[in-house]
Amino acid sequence: MSSTSLPLTPVAKASPFTSDSRVRPINPHAGLRSVSFSRNGSCCVAFGKVGSSSGTIEAVAVTVDEVPLLSCSEAIERLRACRESVKSKQRFLAMYSSVFGGITTDPAAMVIPMDDHIVHRGHGVFDTAAIMDGCLYELDQHLDRFLGSALMAKIQPPFDREMTRNILIQTVRASKCEKGSLRYWLSAGIGDFQLSPSGCHQSTLYAIVLQDQSPFDPTGVKVVTSSIPIKPPQFATMKSVNYLPNALSKMEAEEQGAYAAIWLDEDGFIAEGPNMNAAFVTGDKKLIMPKFDKILSGCTAKRVLALAQGLVDDGDLAGIEVRDVSVEEGKEAREMMLIGSGILVRPVVQWDAQVIGDGEEGPVAQALLRLIQEDMRSGPASVRLPVPY
Ligand SMILES: Cc1ncc(COP(=O)(O)O)c(C=O)c1O
Repeated sequence: MSSTSLPLTPVAKASPFTSDSRVRPINPHAGLRSVSFSRNGSCCVAFGKVGSSSGTIEAVAVTVDEVPLLSCSEAIERLRACRESVKSKQRFLAMYSSVFGGITTDPAAMVIPMDDHIVHRGHGVFDTAAIMDGCLYELDQHLDRFLGSALMAKIQPPFDREMTRNILIQTVRASKCEKGSLRYWLSAGIGDFQLSPSGCHQSTLYAIVLQDQSPFDPTGVKVVTSSIPIKPPQFATMKSVNYLPNALSKMEAEEQGAYAAIWLDEDGFIAEGPNMNAAFVTGDKKLIMPKFDKILSGCTAKRVLALAQGLVDDGDLAGIEVRDVSVEEGKEAREMMLIGSGILVRPVVQWDAQVIGDGEEGPVAQALLRLIQEDMRSGPASVRLPVPY
C-alpha cells in the first residue's frame, strides 16, 4: 500500500454501471473516494476522508489484487452499508428464505447463496401478487401459475401448496406492507455448481415484499415491434427466471423512446410484451386478445376478460374474443392496451409509426383500468385475501 493524493472524484463517476469498460465494479461503502488506473491498466481504489476545501483528499490507494479478506460479520456490515448507499425507488420490507427457514426484515440479509441453481443456471421460476389495502390480490391465481411453472421446470417444491401459501402470507404480515408487491421464487436448490440439479439437497423457496415509490401512471404509451426473438412456447408459457430476452426487449423499446416492445409469434401473430399481455378493441367494438397457448397466461389479462363482460352487458363492447390477432388488425385497432399486474391496464397510443385510433387513451382501456382498480379494492373473496397483520 502506498499513500497518495488523489483528486476528489464523485463516487457516481466510479459507479459499477459506468460505460467506461476499464472501470470494474467497486465497493461503494468502504469509505471509497476515487478510482484510478495505472499505465498497465490495473485499477486503484482510494479510501479516505474528504479533508480539504481545495477539492483533494488524502487517501490510501489499494490495488485490486489486495482485496480484503472479510469475516462473516464484516461481510454482513458491508452488505448493510451497500444497501443503505443504493438509491432505489423500491424498498425491500421482508424476505423469506427456506435456506435459513425464516423471515428477515433486514435488507442486508436478503441474499441468495451463490451455489443456488437459480443464480448460476437460471433453474428457477417466479411469480408475483399485488398487495392493495392490506389484501393480497389474486394470490391463488398466481400461486397456481407458479406451481405450474415449477412443474414445467421440473422443480419439486420444498413445501406443499398450503404451506407455501402460508409462508407467503406470513412474509407479507411480517413486512407490515399494505400497498406493494409480493414476489416469490422456487429454485432447483443449493449444493454445487453443476448443470444437473441432481446434487442439490433440496429445492428452495424465496419470497420478498417490495414497496415501490414510483407514482402510478395511466397515460398512453408508445410501443415498438421487438427485434429480439420471442421465447419458444415451451419457455414462454412458464414464468422461469430466464428473462434475458424480456430485459433486452424492454431495453430495445427504451432505446427508441418507447415503453415496451411487442413480440410476434413464429406465425407472425401478435404475442405479448416483455412483462405484459396485449389487447385491442376492433372497429366493431370487440375486445380481442391473443390466445395464451404460446405466451404467458396473464392473471391480470384473464381477470380483465372476466370484468370486460360488464362492458358487454352495458353495450360499451360488442363482444370478447381470445384468438389469433394479426399485426395489421392490431395496428388498425380502435384501441390497444397493455395488461399486467405491474401496469394493470395501460393504453397504447402508438405502435411503431402507426398512431392507434385517434392517438388518445381509449375509453375501453380507461374503463377496464377502473374496473381492475375497483376489483383490487373491493372485489370478491376469490381475488382478495386479507392479510392477518
Ligand atoms: C412475459 C409476460 N407476459 C405477461 C405477463 C402478465 O402477467 P400477469 O398479469 O400475471 O402479471 C407477465 C408478467 O409478469 C410476463 O412476464
